Formats: sequence, structure tokens, C-alpha cells
Amino acid sequence: MDNRAILDLLQVKNQDHIIHHVDRLPPNKKSKFFQNCNDLDLDLVFRLHNECCASKTTLSLRGNIKVPRIVSLPVRENERKSHYESKLVGESLISNGKVAVLIVAGGQGVRLGHNRPKGTFPVSPIMKKTLFQLLSEQVRALSFRYNAKIPLLIMTSVENHDDTVLFFDTHNFFGLDQNSVYFFQQGMLPTITPEGKLLLKDETSLFVNPDGHGGSLSALNKSGLLDMLMEQGFSELFYCQIDNPLVRIADPVFLGYHSQANSQCSTKVVRRQRIDEKVGVYVSLDGKDAILEYSDFGGKHMEALDDNGEILYWAGNTAIHIMNLSFVKTLNTHGFALPYHCANKNVEILDSKGTRKNVDAWKFETFVFDAIPFAERTCCMEVDRSEEFSPVKNKSGPDSPSTAHESMVKLHKRWLHDAGIIVPHERLVEISPLFSLDREELISKLKGTNMQVESDLYLA
Ligand code: UD1
Repeated sequence: MDNRAILDLLQVKNQDHIIHHVDRLPPNKKSKFFQNCNDLDLDLVFRLHNECCASKTTLSLRGNIKVPRIVSLPVRENERKSHYESKLVGESLISNGKVAVLIVAGGQGVRLGHNRPKGTFPVSPIMKKTLFQLLSEQVRALSFRYNAKIPLLIMTSVENHDDTVLFFDTHNFFGLDQNSVYFFQQGMLPTITPEGKLLLKDETSLFVNPDGHGGSLSALNKSGLLDMLMEQGFSELFYCQIDNPLVRIADPVFLGYHSQANSQCSTKVVRRQRIDEKVGVYVSLDGKDAILEYSDFGGKHMEALDDNGEILYWAGNTAIHIMNLSFVKTLNTHGFALPYHCANKNVEILDSKGTRKNVDAWKFETFVFDAIPFAERTCCMEVDRSEEFSPVKNKSGPDSPSTAHESMVKLHKRWLHDAGIIVPHERLVEISPLFSLDREELISKLKGTNMQVESDLYLA
């Protein structure tokens, strides 16, 4: 869009306060303002504002909700056999160079009191490894185990991109081949008041917000990385959030189920711990699998119990997915398919008198799990929370560094126990992904070693 077209659009959309502001800017700042606007999809935000105004009056959950089909935890012999067979399928996908890994890490650790990229938060119990290090080491160990190239794609945002790249650089990419790590930025969208007025962040830029983790699927396409992966023969994308240190990157069992179901979009779920746990819920909605965010699900569905008094819609979203790359391409074919969600936000802006003040505004973002209903074939698999899900979101209380720390120690103690090694209650343990990626590997390395643990134990 050229400068004239931007001004015309602002005029048509009654943004006189912005036009007056731009009129008063000196030429160098004026051109900076237009340059900043050029990267933004203004048309989209005005359209979303209209849609949001229209739907605000009719906001209620409609549709026929049912409990979906989910691959359960293996208990019986045939279920264990099926998991084992899936694992072999998944392993061959990795060895044959079909699997890439995407970590969404667009946020800052503000809620953790860590004003840097969340991935730079130290989380492991003994070595205080950061989330980035723990997840990168898993990718490195997997590449080594399967003698395969596994590209690691990291989605950043404008606010943390440089810091993230520098962090990897300073830490020598945690031993990964630099040429197989790709950083790309998610998009930004203008924030707008409920009355439809754009806001100024500072003299030369509008107030914007990141476009949500769903934006990873459009940014992957726009950046050219999606085409690059497909041209190189990769077909599946393992997706996770940076906040879960227990995530099993490119879990072969999950890959196997995904592949055997010929699924386009697969999800791992855990049993919801409490009615009010802040997780999305995996359901069947009008015959299609979908995830409904806890804030939208609400009310009677959220609280519904089955005949045994257990939570009826029990499948909590771990935000761990596998997506077929051709499917991701399809989502981008006629514009970007994912719907936008509108959220209220209080933001600090620059007003027309040049003073800073706080106002209520709407931000728009897409959620990656909204890709699920677009898929013709899906797969959902239950996993054990204590083995795979302990996100770090809050400074204290649930989903905090202390709960993640405790989960990691407990998990590794169980692995050691299964390898015949007893760790005294008061001792900490930490097992590097480079030593063992899973229980089976640990057992095969340690069985029969008769190790005595008398102090905190780090295995590397
Ligand atoms: C999210 C899911 C929820 C799920 C839970 C599991 C949503 C709306 N909800 O909740 O269903 O049960 O995780 O832990 O996602 N991110 C970006 N860019 C963005 C927004 C987010 O990269 O624009 C990344 C962040 O780095 C963060 C992650 O996505 O690690 C999660 O986003 P957040 O908004 O914190 O979602 P939750 O409320 O944790």
C-alpha cells in the first residue's frame, strides 16, 4: 500500500485522530510512520472489528458437543502392542528425514517475572538449564539416535526475535548444527478500541499485538520455510510450545499413530485435573474434532460429569500437535483459514495531546488448534501428565517453576527406579536429554550398574 492509499483507508474508516497526528509529524517521522503501517494488515483489522461488533451480542457456545474418539493410555496387552507398533512407524519417519520440529516462542516470560524470551528461563532442577536448552538438547539427541536431519524452527515475535537469536548464538546453538535451526517471526496486528479507533504506541507507530500462535502456520508459509521443508522431503511437523519442559519432542509413538491414521492434524491430551483447570478441551463439535478454549467452553459443559462422577469432557489440551505439511499449505491457500479470536486488553498508548494513558482495547489473534476442524482426518492421543506435561506459566502456584521442577525430579526418579536405582527422598536428580531421552534408554544404559546415590545426581 502506498502512503496515499493508507491515508485514504484511514479517512474512510474515520481515523481522523491518526490523520491529524501524521499531518503534524516532520517529514522523516512521517515516512517512518508509513513504513511501519506498511507491514500491517489494516484492512483485516477493520474487518475483524466489524465482525467482532456483530458477534458480541450473540456470544454463546452453539453446536452439538460430544466426547471424541481418543487413543487411550496403554493398559491392556493389545494396547501396549499397538503403541509398540506405532513407535516403529514413527521411528522410521524420523530416520527417513520426514519430521521437522516447530517451537512457538513468541512470548516474553512476563508472568514469570522474567522480562526476556520465555525460552531463556532457567528451569531444570540441578543445572538450571533454560527451556531453550532442554528442548534443543532433545532435538540433538534425536538427530543422533536416528542419524537424521531434524530441522528446528523457532517462532519468535518482533519483541523477542533479536534476543532469542543472540541467546542461541551465545550458547553455540546448544550443540545443534546452526544450519538446521531456523528463526522466523510471527505477524503483528493493530490493536483497536471497541469503538473502532486505532491507537498510537508512539509518534511513528500504531499499537500492535502478536497475531497469536496460530500465526505460526501463516508465518511459516510467508517466510518460505514451509516450501523449503516440503522441497527437502519433510512431510510432518511436530509442534509444541516453549513452556513445557516435559514435552517429548517428535515422540515416535505419537508420530506413528498420526501416520497410521493418515491424520492431517494430531493432538496429545491429558486428563483435566480440575473443573477449573485453565486448559483447552478436546471435544467433538458437530461431528468434527475441535479444541474449545476454557474461556469459551465454560458453564455446563466445563462442569459436566459422567455416570462415575468423573469429568465428562476430560481431554485437556497440551498444545502438542503433529501437522502434515501439505495440510498446513492448504490452510494458507486462499488467504489464511484460521478464525480470529477477540480479547480485551488494557494498553498504554500515546493520546492526541502527546500524553501516555491507559485505555481498553481489543486484540485479535488466531489459535493453532483451530486448524483441527479443517482437517479431514485427525488423531488424538492421551498421555500421562506426569510424564509429558508440566508447563511453566505463572510465577508461583499451579503451572509454575516449582511445579515443573518437582515434575522433572519425580519423573527422573521414576526412570531411575525402573533401572533399579533408588534415590533418597531428599536428593535431587536431573537426567540430560543427551544421556537418555526416555525411560527405556536410561534402563538400557544403567541396568546392572548398581549405582549408589548419596548426593544430588546429574546424568550427562
Ligand atoms: C494454552 C492453550 C490451552 C492449553 C495450554 C497448555 C491457548 C489459547 N490456549 O494456554 O488450550 O491447554 O496452552 O499449556 O493457546 N505464543 C506465541 N505467540 C503468541 C501467543 C502465544 O508464541 O502470539 C506462545 C507463547 O510463547 C506460549 C504459548 O504460545 O508459550 C501459549 O500461549 P498462552 O497465551 O500462554 O496460552 P495458555 O493460556 O498458556
